[in-house]
Amino acid sequence: MKIVKLGQQGLKVPAVGLGCMGMSEFYGQSDDTKSLKLLDEALEIGCKFWDTADMYGPFTNEALIGKVLADHRQKVILATKFGVKRGQDGAWLGISGAPEYVKACCDASLKRLNTDYIDLYYQHRPDPEVPIEETVGAMAELVKQGKIRYIGLSEASAQDLEKAHHTHPISALQTEFSLWTRDVEERILPKARELGIGFVAYSPLGRGFLTGAIKHRDDLEQNDWRLSNPRFSEEAIANNQKLVEKVKAIAAEKDVTPSQVALAWVLANGDDIAAIPGTRHSKYLDLNWATQVIVLSEKEKAELDDFSQTFKVVGERY
Ligand SMILES: NC(=O)c1ccc[n+]([C@@H]2O[C@H](COP(=O)([O-])OP(=O)(O)OC[C@H]3O[C@@H](n4cnc5c(N)ncnc54)[C@H](OP(=O)(O)O)[C@@H]3O)[C@@H](O)[C@H]2O)c1
Repeated sequence: MKIVKLGQQGLKVPAVGLGCMGMSEFYGQSDDTKSLKLLDEALEIGCKFWDTADMYGPFTNEALIGKVLADHRQKVILATKFGVKRGQDGAWLGISGAPEYVKACCDASLKRLNTDYIDLYYQHRPDPEVPIEETVGAMAELVKQGKIRYIGLSEASAQDLEKAHHTHPISALQTEFSLWTRDVEERILPKARELGIGFVAYSPLGRGFLTGAIKHRDDLEQNDWRLSNPRFSEEAIANNQKLVEKVKAIAAEKDVTPSQVALAWVLANGDDIAAIPGTRHSKYLDLNWATQVIVLSEKEKAELDDFSQTFKVVGERY
């Protein structure tokens, strides 16, 4: 198993984790019974770095994971997030990093997750109204209380990372990173590396697009959130297929799947990078897990680097 050490405090996680978001919201219909089976399968193969957030569902994704944790807490490296406020009815209520809110969210997550500690607790989005030092200060108190083990940030800027890290060591930055989303490479990833902060790549398969499975909007269910994402307009899908064609060509030469090439490329960007592909299917879980032993040659990596660097992706990522 390929292990990544996140941050100077040394949180060790498998390089390939499991994103659980789609099991409860955003990517069309899901089925709790099937998801629970998949989570068991993930534990069996060692894919134990699980990613959730209070706002997925909202709230139901943590509750789903809590069902597994009731019997298997020690086997899981559990990451969850707070900071994007949702109502029980799904309403979007803004962002908060207020210290009291942080503490209340943590207690609520612990309850839903059926556990008394979270391994990696992320601020989901920085709150422009609350200095990050205050939010991270509240998270540091949670560490002292034993409610969380390590602190992470999601979608933080280089400046946020610096300020936060001076308040308490930050173990991981979680941000979107894949062949069609490479903007972190410019300033944010170098800053994380300078500070010794690990990197967790979310949506490493381009929300499924880079696997080649999405060729038209009709390939998505009617209630799929991606239909409202600019990169999934008919025009964007048609244009961005050229990137998928490149991935497919390399996959065919290597006799692996396009999803594996896309994921292997993310992991090939550094030993301090873990990825959390999301899936609801056993077959995909196995393919993603197997990717940790797939090595891109220097030529393949360079080809993908060059192509994706110059390729003009149509559509903003949000
Ligand atoms: N911090 C943040 O703001 C943030 C934002 C977004 C996501 N995340 C986290 O990152 C995780 C992963 O991101 P994501 O789910 O958005 O995108 P992703 O991992 O790039 O792609 C997930 C999609 O790809 C499909 N898929 C997975 N493996 C596949 C394979 N081997 N072959 C073909 N298709 C495959 C999945 O299908 P099925 O589901 O049908 O199996 C799903 O539609 C999430 O679960 C969540 O935990 C965090």
